[in-house]
Amino acid sequence: MNLKPFQWIVAVMATAAALSGCERPPVDAVQVGFRGTGMELVYNPRTIADQVALNTAPAALPEADKSGPRAGAVYKNLKVLGNLSVGELNRLMVGYTQWVAPEQGCAYCHNLNNFADDSLYTKVVARRMTEMTLHLNATWKNHVAETGVTCHTCHRGQPVPNKIWFKPDDSKLAKGLLGQRNGQNEPAASVAYSSLPKDPFTAYLLEDTRIRQISQTALPQGINGNGSSIQATEATYGLMMHISDGLGVSCSFCHNSRNFSNWTESPPQRVTAWHGIRMVRELNNEFMTPLTKVFPESRLGPMGDVAKVNCATCHQGAYKPLWGEQMAKSWPELRTTPPARVVRTASSGAAR
Ligand code: HEC
Ligand code: HEC
Ligand code: HEC
Ligand code: HEC
Repeated sequence: MNLKPFQWIVAVMATAAALSGCERPPVDAVQVGFRGTGMELVYNPRTIADQVALNTAPAALPEADKSGPRAGAVYKNLKVLGNLSVGELNRLMVGYTQWVAPEQGCAYCHNLNNFADDSLYTKVVARRMTEMTLHLNATWKNHVAETGVTCHTCHRGQPVPNKIWFKPDDSKLAKGLLGQRNGQNEPAASVAYSSLPKDPFTAYLLEDTRIRQISQTALPQGINGNGSSIQATEATYGLMMHISDGLGVSCSFCHNSRNFSNWTESPPQRVTAWHGIRMVRELNNEFMTPLTKVFPESRLGPMGDVAKVNCATCHQGAYKPLWGEQMAKSWPELRTTPPARVVRTASSGAAR
């Protein structure tokens, strides 16, 4: 092929543009399964260096005095944290400010003339978030273990967490020459820029649709039946792309790729992930969705739904949030028993 100089420049630039989405070698591969199974995790040492700051918890404050009168007896309007000592309540409030609203300060949630006042929506949301955090640490140990969570796990120093999701606006779905695209074939960050269905969340992390590619019964087919149609397979893979991307791991972190559905050949992390899926469904149904009317419209998505949680909300690209740093251990205030009946129903979709 005889190229003129300007054609060379165009060709070189096009190649550079095409490769810019790839990661530059060398990368490290770690063997995680039996020899010969090819179960490897691939790491890029340079992107790991960039992640250190994101995965370092802020320094904990000195422990509070647990003695003295209960905060509930001193303050007027404590519906959740009344059993803490006054010292613990104040320590926790400084934590809230640091994790959720470091720039705005106490005034982000409080009327500074009257801390008992509930007129700011942010305070009402923060109270429910407090119940959610206590509930996670107390009842979802099969996922969060002793590592637990604090507000910082999701918020990382900002009022709106980095990774949230809304239902996409389907009315704007491209209906080009190829007709209705079924929410796919356009690269979307939610599924790690694959052309898989871009909203695997509504069906799998809000509703409790079965996550299946292999059928266990002959009929009915389809995403709401035995979940073994082509659509269900594509949507399952979309969710799996999100999970891998959200945790910064490859499929073999949870599967032996010779048989994705087989549990006995899967690493134990898959069981933790299974509980995680049920936990996220509960967070979205019991805590986020009921807050829809509390949020101002500017915080809602294009379909009027509230911001919701997926695996990336806590994990943010790490196999364990904050690389497993046990931040909650320094915050006993968030490891107390939650008030009774924090959750209306038993965990949703436990059997599916
Ligand atoms: C992210 C939201 C948030 C931030 C920021 C925050 N608080 Fe609070 N605060 C709350 C919530 C929610 C409650 C109520 C908890 C309950 O119902 O048990 C509360 C309750 C209180 C109370 C008890 C008031 C009463 O009489 O009932 C005081 C005092 C208080 N906060 C002080 C502070 C101070 C001081 C700061 C800043 C250092 C601060 N808070 C920052 C959410 C916040
Ligand atoms: C599992 C993840 C998660 C945890 C843990 C969590 N939050 Fe949130 N929080 C969210 C999501 C998602 C939203 C919705 C984002 C939005 O406001 O649009 C939110 C919203 C909020 C808001 C409203 C902010 C705004 O400007 O609209 C406040 C205040 C808040 N959280 C406080 C807290 C406090 C305090 C804690 C700890 C007791 C906490 N959150 C723990 C996920 C979390
Ligand atoms: C963090 C763990 C985790 C990672 C990473 C992961 N998966 Fe999964 N996968 C699961 C869990 C858990 C289930 C079962 C979900 C359920 O039944 O609720 C599952 C189910 C599946 C299924 C359905 C199997 C069946 O029974 O029909 C397929 C296919 C699958 N995963 C493929 C993949 C692919 C491909 C990747 C990489 C892009 C991947 N997974 C990454 C945890 C993971
Ligand atoms: C509320 C925060 C939160 C959310 C949301 C969350 N996780 Fe986790 N996850 C954690 C914490 C904390 C740990 C660390 C537990 C431990 O130390 O063993 C963890 C651990 C894990 C592990 C075990 C890692 C290992 O090396 O043992 C897997 C797998 C996992 N999560 C998958 C998921 C998947 C899949 C989702 C989405 C369906 C999800 N998580 C959503 C908080 C969360």
